[in-house]
Formats: sequence, C-alpha cells, structure tokens
Amino acid sequence: MSSARSRLIVALDLPDAESALKMVNQLSGHAGLFKVGLELFTREGPSLVQQIRDRGERVFLDLKLHDIPNTVRGAVRSACRLGADMLTVHASGGPAMIAAAAEEARDSGSPPLILAVTALTSLSADDIHALGVPLTPADWVERLAEIAQLSGAAGVVASAKELPVLRAKFGNGLKYVIPGIRPAGTATQDQSRIATPRDAIRAGADYIVVGRPVLQANDPAAAADAIVEEISAQG
Ligand code: C5P
Repeated sequence: MSSARSRLIVALDLPDAESALKMVNQLSGHAGLFKVGLELFTREGPSLVQQIRDRGERVFLDLKLHDIPNTVRGAVRSACRLGADMLTVHASGGPAMIAAAAEEARDSGSPPLILAVTALTSLSADDIHALGVPLTPADWVERLAEIAQLSGAAGVVASAKELPVLRAKFGNGLKYVIPGIRPAGTATQDQSRIATPRDAIRAGADYIVVGRPVLQANDPAAAADAIVEEISAQG
C-alpha cells in the first residue's frame, strides 16, 4: 500500500454490518484504515471489528471514551483484545484518564495508537463559548493537546484549522488525525471547521478522516483514489 493511501481513514458511518462490509469490500486497497464509530459499534459490536480485520484491513475504533480512569482502562483493555489499530478517548476526560488509557494500551501485546479527541470539528467558536470555555477554538485545542501529550497519548484528533498551531508547538511529538475534510466542491454538511485533503496534508496532518464525501459518492473507490492522489501530490 502506498504511504499516501495508508494516511486515508474512511469513516464507516453506516447503519449496519451489511452496508459497512459492502463498503469495506468496495474500498479494499483504496484506503489505509476503516473507522468504526459509535453508531456501528453500538449496533454490531466486536464481531464487526473482527470481520473487517479478517479481510486484512486496519481498524480505527472511534469510541471517544470518556469516563473515570478505571473504567476507561478496562474499555481500552477490551479494545486491545479486539485488535484495534487506533482508539480514541476524549482529552477533556483529563490527565489521569488519558494516562490510564495510554498505559493500558502500552501493556497490551499489539498496542493501538491512543488518540485524544480535542474539540469536535462540528463545534464553532460560538458553540465553544456557549459551553463556558472562554478560549478560542485554537487555544482550547492547544490546551487539550498539551494535556494529551503530557499524559501519554500518541496523537490527537483535531481540525485542520488548529493544525498549524499544534505542529508548531508539538512537532512530531504527536500524530495528527484530522477529520472535517471536504474535497473541493463537495457539501459541507454539519462540519464547520473544514479543509480540503490537500490543505490538511500541507498543514501537517499524518492521517485524514473522510466519511460522507467517500460513502455518498457514486463511486466510493474513485472518490478515495482522488483523495489519495491529493495526498500524494503533497508528498
Ligand atoms: O462524514 P464526515 O467526513 O463529516 O465524517 C467525519 C468523521 O469524523 C465522523 O465519523 C465523525 O464522528 C468524526 N470526527 C469528527 N470530528 C472529530 C472527531 C471525529 O468529525 N473531532
């Protein structure tokens, strides 16, 4: 698999295992990882993760864990047994929770990358203020990323808009996983802090997460290939 392709994560935001596995079959060889999120995991559970892995594909288990450290530690242990390659926790769960997740992952035989979700890309600056956070989105993301790094997370999930600040501050000390990606000319939908694949990679994304622009394309494999071309063009 080309290194450009390995950086494309397709979000399987689909209602059931049948549609998800159909999409995995269509996209096999066209994407680096498949992201299983809350809708699909809640409906289909671990067996779907196993079925994707049985096809030789890598899985990003996007459960956005947020609970007391002991509970998160247990959930990470279970996710490690499933063979997830990446796993998310919410940075706002705090240092002890992130550290418990990172430690548990490190102790497992094949550790997934523990990624801390900073601010959801669907949140605008007004939304963040409405939550009582008196910071700009960039400052809030930076604060959460700092907590994540100090607590042992391997990377962060953030929007492309905050990426330059994060790269400048943390360099290669974190992996940067960037959703809210919209190829030029596609619909924004509910995302507000978006970027094209090209701009996200240029700004220093290690991985980009793309859902609807691939899932809803007439030809999902061709849509994925076009994104991979954009990634390649940035080196
Ligand atoms: O369809 P779309 O490309 O907007 O999908 C983006 C994916 O990235 C969704 O699965 C969403 O849950 C996820 N995500 C996000 N913002 C974050 C973290 C994850 O949009 N901060």
